[in-house]
Amino acid sequence: MNGTVTSISGATVCVDLADLKIGDRVFVGTSRLTGEVVRLDDKIATVQVFEENRGLGIGEPVTTAGEPLTVALGPGLLGGIFDGLQRPLPLLLESSGDFISSGQNPFPLDRKKTWEVTTHSKPGDSLHSGEAFAKVREGHIEHLLLMPQDGTLQQLEEGKLTLENPFATLADKQPLYGWHSWPVRKARPYQSKLPPTKPLVTGQRCLDFLFPLLKGGVAMVPGGFGTGKTVLEQTIAKFADVDVVVYVGCGERGNEMAGLLDEFGELEDPRTKRPLKERTIIVANTSNMPVAARESSIFTAVTMAEYYRDMGLDVLFLADSLSRWAEALREISSALEEMPGEDGYPTYLGSRLSGFIERAGVVKTLSGGQGSLSMILAVSPPGADFAEPVTQACLRVSGALYMLDTQLAHRRHFPAINWTQSFSLYSDTAMAHFVEEHGEWAKLQARCRDILQREEALREVAEVVGMEGLQDGDRLLMRTAEKIRLDFLCQNSFTEDAFAAPRSTIESITTLVAEHDQLSAALDDGALLDDLLKEAANAPR
Ligand SMILES: Nc1ncnc2c1ncn2[C@@H]1O[C@H](COP(=O)(O)OP(=O)(O)OP(=O)(O)O)[C@@H](O)[C@H]1O
Ligand SMILES: [Mg+2]
Repeated sequence: MNGTVTSISGATVCVDLADLKIGDRVFVGTSRLTGEVVRLDDKIATVQVFEENRGLGIGEPVTTAGEPLTVALGPGLLGGIFDGLQRPLPLLLESSGDFISSGQNPFPLDRKKTWEVTTHSKPGDSLHSGEAFAKVREGHIEHLLLMPQDGTLQQLEEGKLTLENPFATLADKQPLYGWHSWPVRKARPYQSKLPPTKPLVTGQRCLDFLFPLLKGGVAMVPGGFGTGKTVLEQTIAKFADVDVVVYVGCGERGNEMAGLLDEFGELEDPRTKRPLKERTIIVANTSNMPVAARESSIFTAVTMAEYYRDMGLDVLFLADSLSRWAEALREISSALEEMPGEDGYPTYLGSRLSGFIERAGVVKTLSGGQGSLSMILAVSPPGADFAEPVTQACLRVSGALYMLDTQLAHRRHFPAINWTQSFSLYSDTAMAHFVEEHGEWAKLQARCRDILQREEALREVAEVVGMEGLQDGDRLLMRTAEKIRLDFLCQNSFTEDAFAAPRSTIESITTLVAEHDQLSAALDDGALLDDLLKEAANAPR
């Protein structure tokens, strides 16, 4: 069915097209710009156009895709770089150069690539939606091909196939391909949600030791300008012990994304020894790309993340930053003249955000396996004001908070995680796991926190009386706390130290605390701190 453009106001366009539903994808104008129906009146539909629409005129044709905004799910997503509408950026670059021309919709997956398909079921099997009917090897993972709907298999193909060939035929003669599409705003189904239990090792000592995250958990990383959100997210993307990483650059600088892409092409995954790129999907909607597609980018990305979770894999979703996403939402909402809520954000900001964050978790998949989707979400509150609506809305649904501190960043203490204000609700569960594996973890964590807290109090005293005025025991404590801060909590992402395995993390902190206890015992026996430190400095290493 065809309609026409009746009015245009920025990226918001009214069209006279009947039989539309909210959320339907439409193609606007002669250059077929992608848009989404956001409001329906009697005969007029309001469409949010996701692409640059300069040059669009009244009376240009509009057609509907007859379905909501979807993503294509199938082998070949890993290593992919997409925009917020899942258009493959390398292909767009080839066809239209550095600045994407509007109206291009190349298929996101490589249709010509051959895959070695092995069957996972047999003719006559009746499978439910989400159950696997075949599998292919995609890099380091076994990619399960999942049924897009319920059906009985009549025939299954094996061997070398491309995405253009049917992989199977259903009893009603319908062909089943190696890919299917899924609406981005609809969470993929699962059998049941399970509580997260396994730790997600980030390789960051401060996080793994003090504020551990679990697979299936959600952490938020609020931080002011230049506090290290991007570096932290990208470092975790490199080293986290998960099968698949989905990284969304949402409204951030284009050159940072370009740097990430170059680096991922060269680095290898320390666990599988294969290029890091092979386990990563990047969704880039940088600050120089249209704002409206930014709103859809996190949904596009999370749907791809869920797809890999449904194969029984551990997936990590990283977004940088949700504040830029919320700003896009605000811009769209104000163009629609909706009633503004706090700080001008739409009143549904909280529910939209929690609906998205709820898609994280550990699940029993429809094919009977267990998969997890964890999230680490950066938030950049203006003026580092953590009371603002986006930070608060995220906080309500996050299980861990990694608060980045402007003062620590100024002192070049990176990652600038404030150890008094950050928290992890997963700590006890993670600890139970770590204690089994690494013995003293819980005791050490309590000691470390205690030393850092006592240092805070002592620092105030030292400011008044000077370090010389402190007793030897207090000076020792300040020395140990400093060592914990500088040698343990600080971790430079641009050196070999960027990743710390749990075993080395526990060894480092054990050594620091043991040295403190040894010196403390010597002080109790009447020794003087300066003599002990001189002795320690001269001792052979
Ligand atoms: N872990 C780290 N190790 C070493 N240097 C770091 C680390 N984290 C941050 N930095 C330094 O801080 C700078 C700013 O970091 P980053 O770009 O990640 O901040 P940001 O919070 O993303 O900033 P913005 O708010 O502008 O997006 C980096 O260029 C780097 O020099
Ligand atoms: Mg940044």
